[in-house]
Amino acid sequence: MNILVTGGAGYIGSHMVRMLVGAGHDVRVIDTLEYGYKASVPKGIRLTVANVGDRVVLDRIFSSQKPEAVIHFAGYINVEESVREPMKYMANNVTSPLVLLEAMEAHGISSIIFSSTAAVYGTPTIVPIPEDHPKAPTSTYGLSKWNFEQLLAYFDRRGTIRSISLRYFNAAGASLDGNYGEAHEPETHIIPLAMKTAMGQQPSFSLYGTHYPTKDGTCVRDYIHVEDLCQAHVLMLDALAAGHKTDAFNVGTGEGVTNREMVEAVKRETGADFPVVASDPRPGDPHTLVADPTRLTGEFGWKPKYSDIKTIITSAWKWHRAHREGYLK
Ligand SMILES: NC(=O)c1ccc[n+]([C@@H]2O[C@H](COP(=O)([O-])OP(=O)(O)OC[C@H]3O[C@@H](n4cnc5c(N)ncnc54)[C@H](O)[C@@H]3O)[C@@H](O)[C@H]2O)c1
Repeated sequence: MNILVTGGAGYIGSHMVRMLVGAGHDVRVIDTLEYGYKASVPKGIRLTVANVGDRVVLDRIFSSQKPEAVIHFAGYINVEESVREPMKYMANNVTSPLVLLEAMEAHGISSIIFSSTAAVYGTPTIVPIPEDHPKAPTSTYGLSKWNFEQLLAYFDRRGTIRSISLRYFNAAGASLDGNYGEAHEPETHIIPLAMKTAMGQQPSFSLYGTHYPTKDGTCVRDYIHVEDLCQAHVLMLDALAAGHKTDAFNVGTGEGVTNREMVEAVKRETGADFPVVASDPRPGDPHTLVADPTRLTGEFGWKPKYSDIKTIITSAWKWHRAHREGYLK
């Protein structure tokens, strides 16, 4: 297929591009490179450095390439920042990609897969969280993703675009060869931060919130290896091509790991010891996010292969040790 990947220079998008190219698809990337890296886009892949809200650029791409599907990863992802700067998140994660939907509609491109998030649910009242759980985001990050899901539902009702929103839990890990991994700047994710501490790049590791109503007082998260996550997108591309209706699915393993357990696992797998300090909770962080993935596994036979904590940590460690400064800008 001919596929446009937005945000394809970012962490998950660049893995997706590699998987699609490996499967023989024709791929083009659009990314501002504000948080992505040219070096993470494989050589030979066309990268347009632009915003998904740039209609002129989109018209040019869609007229010349006419993709059969769009996979939309582009977005701002920092929960804490989104609580401080709601407008920034609503503008970039809702208004800009609305331009993308308008352009798709105008050019007759009718399939899109959207990177949604567990943050749409807010603090859950049912765990593991099913897709029909009430949506009560505790950050404008989560709200922006929920709003965009609702826009997608609306474009479905207009009869022009079918979509699948994948609500990722915590994407983690690196390619198994250690060549491509997670490099966010600023980094807010637990595994890269623990790795940086293990490599001596910061003096101590901060556990944000240690008095939550969880088994050890720290947040509980559901980790999904980036390869397994991308595999779910491949299944969704096929589903949309086969006429699947607009829908949303959780992508997680259903297993909860506390932050304290994750840091201990990083120490164990890397062999590095480092100080861990208790810090204040981060605004917007629900204490528990664990997926009920049974709709995705049941309907599509999706089965995570690499999402055990050992594989997640060892793949990430391989990447971080080989790329101590991340990707070069
Ligand atoms: N990493 C996770 O655990 C996680 C969990 C849930 C959902 N998600 C979602 O998955 C997607 C990818 O996440 P990631 O971790 O790879 O983030 P990332 O920051 O590494 O990648 C996002 C990419 O989008 C680009 N971008 C941002 N806004 C843009 C715009 N308006 N136009 C064009 N490019 C733009 C950035 O430059 C970056 O390269 C995001 O939408 C995120 O909300 C990620």
